[in-house]
Amino acid sequence: MLNRVEEIRKSALAACAQAASVKELEQARVKFLGKKGELTLLLRSTGQLPPEERPKFGRLVNELRDELEAAWNQREEQLFREEEERRLQAETIDVTLPGRTIARGSVHPITRIIEETKAIFMYMGYEVVEGPEVEWDYYNFEALNIPPDHPARDMQDTFFITEELLLRSQTSPVQVRVMEKRQPPIRILAPGKVYRADSDITHSPMFHQIEGLVVDRGITFADLKGTLELFARRMFGPDIKIRLRPSYFPFTEPSAEVDVSCIICRGAGCRVCKDTGWLEILGSGMVDPRVLKGVGYDPQEVSGFAFGMGVERIAMLKYGVNDIRLFFENDVRFLAQFGSQGGLLC
Ligand code: PHE
Repeated sequence: MLNRVEEIRKSALAACAQAASVKELEQARVKFLGKKGELTLLLRSTGQLPPEERPKFGRLVNELRDELEAAWNQREEQLFREEEERRLQAETIDVTLPGRTIARGSVHPITRIIEETKAIFMYMGYEVVEGPEVEWDYYNFEALNIPPDHPARDMQDTFFITEELLLRSQTSPVQVRVMEKRQPPIRILAPGKVYRADSDITHSPMFHQIEGLVVDRGITFADLKGTLELFARRMFGPDIKIRLRPSYFPFTEPSAEVDVSCIICRGAGCRVCKDTGWLEILGSGMVDPRVLKGVGYDPQEVSGFAFGMGVERIAMLKYGVNDIRLFFENDVRFLAQFGSQGGLLC
């Protein structure tokens, strides 16, 4: 039994000296001095000794405990000091190192197109307004002369929430909301998100449109053309031409799709414009008299024009992006290419 005391003493002191960190030292302490450690086990075996030897044995074990505890405290202090020193060394600040540059964000290309468009139209006296993305069927379709069974509803595969509520498939409902509340003259621009059940490299289920509406006495198709020509030049460059093609929208009559001369080949014909020399950028037309009547205006007194453009489409053309999904993945390697030059927000 006395041999055992000496054995434990030796191995405990060795473990104490060998512990290379405060953590290792603590592990060794638990092994020898812990509640279920070697010393406790040793004390439990006292019963195996003849009664007269027990007090002496007990004293020996307690002395050993005191000795080991002292050894542990000393080693702990030493290790702690060493670790502290190493940490201070490692944390030394090199004041001669160059500073770290802060990565600056840039304006998202979609936001940029919206801001540029707003600036162009605000310069012409337009007011920017917004409407809800969750919209009534009435504003998205009916008030725009698209009755329940109208085939034009199929042009826009709509996400319905209830029979009467939907995610707006176009920004045109904002036209009606504004006209309902105000009297002409009206000159508004309504940017925002729209939703359609459509998804491929040129279609996203959520995308952005910018709606424009002008209503006043004596507004003509020439006003529509002049306005859009000015917009196209400001957006794409001074020598851009526009072309109007007859089209159909239930809420405008006559209607026209507007093309710009291809910004890549300048009209000569290339892959982007499919050799036509032209790129379609928006839908437009003179506000249909039925829509004007619907909001209580007199079509004999006032007339107007409206247009709606897809922001992603314009961004794809302007920046030469061939996959719409890149705008929504928010990969910084893509976004960083738009830099911050010329940005209106920074
Ligand atoms: N709202 C139409 C669309 O999404 C575009 C449009 C707006 C056409 C205004 C004419 C007038 O296709």
